[in-house]
Amino acid sequence: MTAPATPQQLLLLADHLKLSLLERQRAKSLGLEADKQDGTISQSLQSLDQGLQQLESHGSQSDEAANGVVPLRKQYNELYRQYHGTAPPSVATSKPNDPALQADFEAAQSRPSQPRRSKSVRFRDNDDAEDAVDTANRAALFSEQQGYSDEPSAPDQTDLSNQQIHTYHKQVLQDQDEQLNTLGQSIGRQRMLGIQMGDELDEQNELLTDVESGVDRHQSILDRARRRLGNVARKSKGNWSWITIGILICVLLLLIICCQNIQLPRSELTMHLGLEGKVVLITGGTKGIGRSIVKSFLDEGAIVHFCSRSQDNVKASNDKLAEAYPGNKAIGAAVDVTNAESIKEWVTSCASQSGRIDVIVANVSALATENDPAAWQNGFQTDMMGTVHMVNAALPHLEKTKGNIITISSVSGRIIDFTSQPGPYGPFKAAIIHYTCQLAHVHAAKGIRANTVSPGNIYIEDGVWGDIERRLPDLFKASMAQNPSGRMGKPEEIANVCVFLASDKAGFVTGSNILVDGALSTGVQF
Ligand SMILES: NC(=O)c1ccc[n+]([C@@H]2O[C@H](COP(=O)([O-])OP(=O)(O)OC[C@H]3O[C@@H](n4cnc5c(N)ncnc54)[C@H](OP(=O)(O)O)[C@@H]3O)[C@@H](O)[C@H]2O)c1
Repeated sequence: MTAPATPQQLLLLADHLKLSLLERQRAKSLGLEADKQDGTISQSLQSLDQGLQQLESHGSQSDEAANGVVPLRKQYNELYRQYHGTAPPSVATSKPNDPALQADFEAAQSRPSQPRRSKSVRFRDNDDAEDAVDTANRAALFSEQQGYSDEPSAPDQTDLSNQQIHTYHKQVLQDQDEQLNTLGQSIGRQRMLGIQMGDELDEQNELLTDVESGVDRHQSILDRARRRLGNVARKSKGNWSWITIGILICVLLLLIICCQNIQLPRSELTMHLGLEGKVVLITGGTKGIGRSIVKSFLDEGAIVHFCSRSQDNVKASNDKLAEAYPGNKAIGAAVDVTNAESIKEWVTSCASQSGRIDVIVANVSALATENDPAAWQNGFQTDMMGTVHMVNAALPHLEKTKGNIITISSVSGRIIDFTSQPGPYGPFKAAIIHYTCQLAHVHAAKGIRANTVSPGNIYIEDGVWGDIERRLPDLFKASMAQNPSGRMGKPEEIANVCVFLASDKAGFVTGSNILVDGALSTGVQF
């Protein structure tokens, strides 16, 4: 059985407990783990309690012992409450029982002069010297021989004197202080590392923000470009439509030009009127309507004889037609229709030259409108008698071929117009219609057909209406305004009717007067 502890020993143990609790409190204030020595403290508290119980059980044997137990019990109770965290240390627990320990108590209660550091750390990338210091500190803290330990192996203190125990605990506390300082420095370095990491993160964040704004800018640029591309695509779609239309128009124009230049076979252009090789005589064929009638029959393959008074005009026409219709198909002669003998000779000559006469077209007019005897005489001799001479000279030949007689009259032969002031033009044109109808009736049995074509206003630049347009513009405008079709006729539109009447396609048409006037005539023709 061991001897009970003396009050002095228990007082020293109480002082060490106070020191341990003060260190524990200091560790808490530094933000370090404060419960590493809790096992030792708890064990010391238990030893103190046991020692006090032994002294209390022997308290009656010695007054000295009884006087020392009471304050020790108070200190124990206070230490117990402080350890369990229910009350702050009192003055009694912060003062040593042994004045020699006063310096140790003050050191244990001291607080760092600098403000308590935050637990945050700064990040550091390349500080090799500081890394070496940290490594050394860690080695010192955690090495087996002298490193920091949560449960330091305390030597057996039962055989130690109070001074030795005090020295031992003082050494332990110094070591702990050094370790805590080292740990504080390491924590400081970690804090610096954390701050550096924070700065780096801030910079990275700024970079990311810049990159993000750049991406947004480029995205908006791309969106604008996409919209522009869409607009261009839509416009190009519209443009392509116009381009396609333009190309089609060009192709159409090329086709029209090609078609105009292509000399299609005659059979492609005609109604197959059967006029090939027919011999046709036309008076007044160097100008105007007569010139178109000549060409139309030539187009049908006929052999055409034509005449006019002017030898020069005849020669010029011959040259042109010989070029356009090679093969001596168009033959002109200078003949005045008012001269019956001349007409007879020309007709006989034509029949002799071409072997037959199939069609005659009496086209010449004096275009006499004046109301004077000469005009009346001219009109009569040219329009009326010129037609009669031509018919009389050709009839023997026409009887042989069951030929055709076509006379050219005018709307003026059946309406009262500007030529009727009065004057000879209308009356003789009317007489021609009547005469032609007689011929149709008289010679129908012989197979001879006779018809009249009555033109309306036919515009030819070097013809009658071209001359009126230049010399009498008011009359020209007024006459133009009278045309319900809005225009005057073309000479080929008269020639086409003549060609049709001369063909077998019009085999039952005889004694007719065909109006070709664009509805200029207002009278009803029965
Ligand atoms: N143009 C019209 O708007 C129109 C309207 C209704 C009816 N017409 C009738 O259509 C026929 C032709 O008229 P147009 O306008 O074509 O006439 P045009 O242009 O004056 O041509 C008349 C042609 O007949 C010739 N000629 C004139 N007198 C002649 C004569 N005594 N003997 C032989 N040849 C003669 C002319 O040549 P030379 O001078 O060298 O002889 C010329 O080749 C006429 O009967 C006319 O009454 C015409």
